[in-house]
Amino acid sequence: MITFNRAGKRFGTLDAVKDFSLEIQDREILGLLGPNGAGKTTLMLMMGTVYRPTSGAISVDGLDVVRHQNDVRKLIGIAFQDPRVDGILGAFDVLNWHLKMTTGLNKEERTERVEQVLRAVDLWDARKKRTWLMSGGMRKKVEDCKVLAQRPKIAVFDEPTAFLDVPSRLLMWKMIRELREEGSTVIVATNMMDEAERLSDRVAIVNLGKLVATDSPERLKGTTKGGEVLELIVGDGQAFPRELLAQFSEVRDVTQIENKVTVYRQRALEGGHLGRCLSQLHRSKTRIAYQVETLPPASSSRWPGGTSQHYSARPGS
Ligand SMILES: Nc1ncnc2c1ncn2[C@@H]1O[C@H](COP(=O)(O)OP(=O)(O)OP(=O)(O)O)[C@@H](O)[C@H]1O
Ligand SMILES: [Mg+2]
Repeated sequence: MITFNRAGKRFGTLDAVKDFSLEIQDREILGLLGPNGAGKTTLMLMMGTVYRPTSGAISVDGLDVVRHQNDVRKLIGIAFQDPRVDGILGAFDVLNWHLKMTTGLNKEERTERVEQVLRAVDLWDARKKRTWLMSGGMRKKVEDCKVLAQRPKIAVFDEPTAFLDVPSRLLMWKMIRELREEGSTVIVATNMMDEAERLSDRVAIVNLGKLVATDSPERLKGTTKGGEVLELIVGDGQAFPRELLAQFSEVRDVTQIENKVTVYRQRALEGGHLGRCLSQLHRSKTRIAYQVETLPPASSSRWPGGTSQHYSARPGS
């Protein structure tokens, strides 16, 4: 089991992750879903002992990530968001080297595993190609293959299908699911709702470094169908009257980091999407410098805290 206990990471004055608590069960596929800058990568890098939490604690199988850094590292394999493949080596050598560093497999076993994953993702013929000459999608596949071949107890994939074409994405999801069938716990960071939905047993939605909601994809979609997210930038360091919004039953959560306020709402009740909340704020003389709202739901249901491509921006009044 992996436990985040009020974990936080502060870079200078920015809380990239704040007060984050979550338990991840063995052999679960957990999707971390959130828009750009939500804190997904920071969370995974803290768990993987690359970053040290600045507050709270994280443990992996009962081992604290700070005190037992080396033991934790042995349990985890990370496919990084920005592939860190060595440009000098070809794909085969990169994977073989990775297995040499992270597993106790002998040469024959390593060769067999590497060949198996490279054939599966259709990179066998390109196995000698320098990774810096590869396309973005090919490089990403090599990065994912590191963890697929390693088969660690805890497998972390940070945006595993960014740059991948559609057939490759479907294949990668299948291979990640198979990894879990073999016994790994899997954590996938993504800003794509369909990826979180199709891959995960459970989704944790993250925004502004905080956990917004966690549940099965079906339940999240069911309970938040048509939910909306409203982002406000409050002017002049003014305090934000959270209690004014709390009185609305459709408001599920309000988070604030400095002057940026995010309001998570269930489907708006009659009276318009924004009308009631905003007019209340205006009446209270809260000066809103800028606001972003999600578009009305499209034909498919959407996620709360959703993805930035659904945001429409307009200046506040
Ligand atoms: N090393 C760092 N130094 C300073 N700020 C950082 C550092 N790493 C991340 N941040 C900041 O922390 C916040 C969270 O970043 P993070 O990379 O964890 O987000 P993310 O959810 O992975 O986003 P994306 O979807 O774009 O990958 C951002 O505001 C980012 O600018
Ligand atoms: Mg990231």
